[in-house]
Amino acid sequence: MLEIRNLHVRIEDEGTEIIRGLNLTVKDGEVAAIMGPNGSGKSTLSYALSGRDGYEVTEGEVLFNGVNILEMEADERAASGLFLAFQYPVEIPGVATMNFLKAAMNSQRKARGEAAYSTPDFIRKVREASGRLGISMEMLKRPLNVGFSGGEKKRAEILQMAMLEPKLCIMDETDSGLDIDALKVVSDGVNALRGPERSFIVITHYQRLLEHIVPDSVHVLYKGRIIQSGGKELAQHLEANGYADIIADAA
Ligand SMILES: Nc1ncnc2c1ncn2[C@@H]1O[C@H](COP(=O)(O)OP(=O)(O)OP(=O)(O)O)[C@@H](O)[C@H]1O
Ligand SMILES: [Mg+2]
Repeated sequence: MLEIRNLHVRIEDEGTEIIRGLNLTVKDGEVAAIMGPNGSGKSTLSYALSGRDGYEVTEGEVLFNGVNILEMEADERAASGLFLAFQYPVEIPGVATMNFLKAAMNSQRKARGEAAYSTPDFIRKVREASGRLGISMEMLKRPLNVGFSGGEKKRAEILQMAMLEPKLCIMDETDSGLDIDALKVVSDGVNALRGPERSFIVITHYQRLLEHIVPDSVHVLYKGRIIQSGGKELAQHLEANGYADIIADAA
């Protein structure tokens, strides 16, 4: 699914290297969790994978189903099945969430050579998915993310994910700011989308989310590199002991 080899990323304006030789492989259907101290480069990694401006890849490759996505524009990456849920979702004033979803879906379908959804088909799909996620149709009439509470933004992201049916979902701290019920809604949403042909990279600080979304692998990112990988027990170890011993071992 995804193979990151010796990735180096720097912030274009300042030249500081943030990702420094990162290697990571995510298999088809795998849920990989990335944990790591504040400032270790987790969000930078997700931005670089999404193709956001301002993040310059200076070395390495990222193969997404065998294709080097570093050559592709952000929208081409999305059309090829990459989905990113950001730590701080963007607000789009003036565009109803519903219309945003429809436009996003149909532009991706077009890029893949598929027919656009008709309005009734789209409405049926959106009703079904939002019902499951506890999102009201009223909320979908509001501009995307504008004035949404933290938890509502996260739910709206899971809704986008459910509608777009991506192959690889990268979720940056989707758990932060969620109340207990919303955490369950979001993790149930993710679990419902799990399947042999869809992989996830879940960035989180807490074992709590990983009790609901049980990962196949856990990776520790520190100073721009993966310094340790393991199974779900690694997250339990981190929750109990913090990062100190793993960082000391890697030094
Ligand atoms: N646009 C930028 N300009 C300057 N420095 C930046 C920029 N973006 C990221 N950095 C720096 O890169 C480092 C990694 O940041 P990043 O947001 O990737 O960390 P993170 O692992 O996601 O942290 P957190 O757990 O707090 O979300 C930090 O030291 C941050 O200050
Ligand atoms: Mg971050």
